[in-house]
Amino acid sequence: MTTRILQIDSSLFGGAGVSAQLAEFALTKIKAQYDDVVVVKRDLAADPIPHFDASTIADITEGKAALADTLIAELVEADVLIVGAPMYNFGVPSVLKAWMDHVARAGSTFKYTETGPVGLLSDTKVIVLATRGGIHLGQPSDVETPFIKNFFSFLGLTDIEFVYAEGLNLSGGQREQAITKAEAAISDLVSALSEQGEVA
Ligand SMILES: Cc1cc2nc3c(=O)[nH]c(=O)nc-3n(C[C@H](O)[C@H](O)[C@H](O)COP(=O)(O)O)c2cc1C
Repeated sequence: MTTRILQIDSSLFGGAGVSAQLAEFALTKIKAQYDDVVVVKRDLAADPIPHFDASTIADITEGKAALADTLIAELVEADVLIVGAPMYNFGVPSVLKAWMDHVARAGSTFKYTETGPVGLLSDTKVIVLATRGGIHLGQPSDVETPFIKNFFSFLGLTDIEFVYAEGLNLSGGQREQAITKAEAAISDLVSALSEQGEVA
């Protein structure tokens, strides 16, 4: 059975970003564990998605939003979504926000009901690789974690795990320690995927 991975990288450093490198580490682990892995990769720094604007809405209305349709299809098909999410000015990179704006579409990935919005997606494991220059986890400055969690839950994607690499810009070997710790967390997470039979 095929395991479909959607990898979203959003570091402005491209493949050299810590989040992108952790994503590659996760992919290597997943490929070692599953026979048939198909990866769709979006490097949003190399190939940015335009801001969601009035013309995008017009395109959706006219059935001409080819890029957004493709992004949504990639998300719907994924068994595992790996999101590289560096913290830039307390939030996600603007290129990642643009991707989010395009994949959140009423009638496709969520719908409005009398009692509020309901997510239309499910069955995708979301792994967020949260990289930060400083340390924010559990502090008021970490507005990024609840934002990301809310966003994916809104679409119905509630099976979400965060792996943090924090203090990357701090001195005293903290960067190396953070990366090693994140890699260990990723290894555990990927082994747990197959133990729990979460992914085909
Ligand atoms: C434009 C920009 C804004 C940043 N803002 C923050 C921030 O608000 N908080 C923080 O802890 N680190 C901040 N950093 C540091 C990054 O989070 C850190 O460099 C991390 O490694 C980024 O992940 P990446 O290597 O995958 O891009 C910022 C870096 C850049 C380039």
